Amino acid sequence: MRVGIEAITFAVPKFYVDMTELAERRGIDPAKFVHGLGQVEMSVASPCEDTVTLAASAGLKLIQKYNIDPNSISLIVVGTETAVDHSKPISSHVHEILNLSSKCRAFEVKHACYGATAGIAIATDWIMSRRAKGKKALVIASDIARYGANTPGEPTQGAGAVAMLISDEPKLLEFEPNYQGYFSSQVMDFWRPTYSKEAFADGHFSIQCYLNAFAEAYSMYKENFSSEHGEDLQTKIGSRFAADLYHVPFVKMAQKAHQKFTEIEQGKVIEKGMPEYDSFLQDFSSRVAPNLKLNARVGNIYTGSLYLSLFNLLEAKSEELAGKAISMFSYGSGCTAEFFSGIVMPSAKDIIKNISSEEILRSRIKISIERYERLLRESALADYNDADVSNPDHWDVSGPVLYLGTKDHRRQYSMSI
Ligand code: CAA
Repeated sequence: MRVGIEAITFAVPKFYVDMTELAERRGIDPAKFVHGLGQVEMSVASPCEDTVTLAASAGLKLIQKYNIDPNSISLIVVGTETAVDHSKPISSHVHEILNLSSKCRAFEVKHACYGATAGIAIATDWIMSRRAKGKKALVIASDIARYGANTPGEPTQGAGAVAMLISDEPKLLEFEPNYQGYFSSQVMDFWRPTYSKEAFADGHFSIQCYLNAFAEAYSMYKENFSSEHGEDLQTKIGSRFAADLYHVPFVKMAQKAHQKFTEIEQGKVIEKGMPEYDSFLQDFSSRVAPNLKLNARVGNIYTGSLYLSLFNLLEAKSEELAGKAISMFSYGSGCTAEFFSGIVMPSAKDIIKNISSEEILRSRIKISIERYERLLRESALADYNDADVSNPDHWDVSGPVLYLGTKDHRRQYSMSI
């Protein structure tokens, strides 16, 4: 049975900041943010945008642009670490806004940046079990990454949502569910206590946790691949991938992950100055870097980061990669991780033309660092009852769905669909 991604799109909030301007304001060499971390711009949510409005905007765009019948969807899962309620899931708001059928499962999944991948795994198994009976699953990754002003994590913030339709008609990407590899271990590398809007991270330790999880998950993938195909583990299974996608908390992290991947393949540590390092950089430039352009301009969108990179690949390289396998690595701090793969479908190149990432990014407005700092301060208040900071006219934001604040302890949304 075939299963995979039939449709994909993304949404970002109205505003962004320029990373050079942010670095200058912080008294840091801009080269650190732009080259050291690989980030050029960073999307910023206003107090009228939350993970419901981002998820709903991405979902609406998917339904409209791909002409999807809402009644064909019988499962909606929203992956997020940026919940808006301790009990009520984002999916229930999105289910209403998208006018989905009541004969539908709707829930939210949390595991840091892994949530949407868990949603995809659930959807894949549901479809493969044949209990979906031709119905489809909508999986939406929606997050607002916040560490706060003047923190080491500040240049690795971002906001956005990626919506994907998972079905037995994988017109864009067909999964290879027999070869997955996963890894879990309790580590305190990144977390967000329930009293805090801002995440805490043990930054450098989190990089090591990510790389260790990558090595372990990839090792399990190789075992599964070998048991299916009877190949020796030492054979270069990795060379079957025409492109490699990673979770992207910041662009340079994908480069570190791809170096780890290359070291595993070659069975040795690679360092700058070695001839192998130059060929690794060449490989990175052709198989990974072209898929990181959107991540460099949107910032970290946590659970959606890997899938933003996938959108980038499908939009830019579908024709070249048609029929070829690509790898994907999803990492959720805390931690759990998954290495999986898929085949780019020949139909992808025509279908993806419906959506232009440039158009989506061009609709954003660049704001000054002073305005960004004000947005951060006021967004911190936006969830309080009667806070009165989420007036769209006040911030000059518009969109199909906006958050209007919490009144009578109920979140209020405006819809102009
Ligand atoms: N010019 C060019 N490059 C420069 C530079 C300059 N003037 N100054 C520094 N750099 C380089 C550094 O050499 C470094 O590159 P390498 O890692 O390749 O050596 C890079 O810029 C970053 O410099 P630092 O390591 O000194 O930066 P930092 O200590 O301020 O923090 C960070 C970096 C740890 C990533 C921090 O931003 C952070 O804590 N971010 C949040 C946590 C995170 O994203 N973790 C990733 C793994 S966990 C995960 O993936 C889950 C998730 O989404 C959060």
